[in-house]
Amino acid sequence: MIKKLQQVFREKYNKEATIIGAPGRVNLIGEHTDYNFGFVLPGAVDKKIYVAIAPNGTDTVNVFANQFNESYSFSLDVSEPHKGWMNYLLGVTYHIQQRGKKIGGVDLLIDGDIPVGAGMSSSAALCSAYGFALNELFQLGLSRMDLAFIGQKTEHTFVGLQCGIMDQFASLHGKKGHVMKLDCRSLEYEYIPFDFPGYKIVLVNSMVSHSLASSEYNVRRQQCEEGIAILKKHYPNINSLRDVEPAQLLQHRDELPPIVFDRCSYVVYEKERLLAGCEALKKNDLATFGKLMIATHEGLSKKYSVSCTELDFLAECAQHITGVAGSRMMGGGFGGCTINIVQADAVENFTQKIQAAFNGLFKQTPEVYVTQIEDGAKVIS
Ligand code: GLA
Repeated sequence: MIKKLQQVFREKYNKEATIIGAPGRVNLIGEHTDYNFGFVLPGAVDKKIYVAIAPNGTDTVNVFANQFNESYSFSLDVSEPHKGWMNYLLGVTYHIQQRGKKIGGVDLLIDGDIPVGAGMSSSAALCSAYGFALNELFQLGLSRMDLAFIGQKTEHTFVGLQCGIMDQFASLHGKKGHVMKLDCRSLEYEYIPFDFPGYKIVLVNSMVSHSLASSEYNVRRQQCEEGIAILKKHYPNINSLRDVEPAQLLQHRDELPPIVFDRCSYVVYEKERLLAGCEALKKNDLATFGKLMIATHEGLSKKYSVSCTELDFLAECAQHITGVAGSRMMGGGFGGCTINIVQADAVENFTQKIQAAFNGLFKQTPEVYVTQIEDGAKVIS
């Protein structure tokens, strides 16, 4: 991949490039909790977006996206969104300059192996790789956390997805062999070893490609806020669902519209599951962790309503295959992948069984990705 990138860059722009790689992410548990200021437990994976970059001495950014075989050029004087993947570059260019940072024009080549729309955060990886590249090239002095916020703001303002900070954070802060317990309120984080040589993290793609921006993702966020507004009348110190105890929610159940109650109750119990899950991981107790994952799926599907038939089928089916510690839908939902913790020597059988079962019903073979937990964004060459 890297050699190919260097060669294509040379052919296109007739000069040498710096190459940056930023990974996609998995999230073990703690879904839809980031924008509720709770905890998440992501890790960066071995699939990345690569950006090859060199300054061009002008005020223009020239891009070639190898995966889509598309080119695009825009002036540094960005004012509004355009369309598709270009918005990630426009947004990052805009928000870096909004911070008073001075950048010049660049030539870019983008490629990667993160499946698009599969819930592995290829868009966060693109923002992270491009932001990281500009930061390196122009010595802007932005921290990894600054770059994560620039990526998140890009989603909010150029893409229309009111996402939390998890994906951008994970792509920039990942550490080989570790997941990160991030407190999305204080932004403190802790690396927890994911040290289970006998197990693999296996993703199964439902083949339902999602665009979260056009999904009900933003509606879920509003429903959580609606719940908070009601609960705050009783508990003025509550600012997000992170602050709500299950007993408080249950006590005011009748005041919340039933759908809002369901959304809030998923989030409030997901916090408990995440905390229990971290303890289980620290004790090497994958059996308990797996049960928590299954409960998370149940909540995401039945109470938070962000799953779909294909994801429900995959999560259910996985539980009946030998060697699976836990399985659930991962990420924003409405499509994308399930995350499965599978005994290493059972991965082949798991893959065959789940592909055959899915194919029998949906007439399509789901892609399976056996992942490794890797470092976050970095200069590759
Ligand atoms: C998407 C968003 C994240 C997070 C997850 C759900 O990946 O980008 O901020 O909310 O969904 O956990």
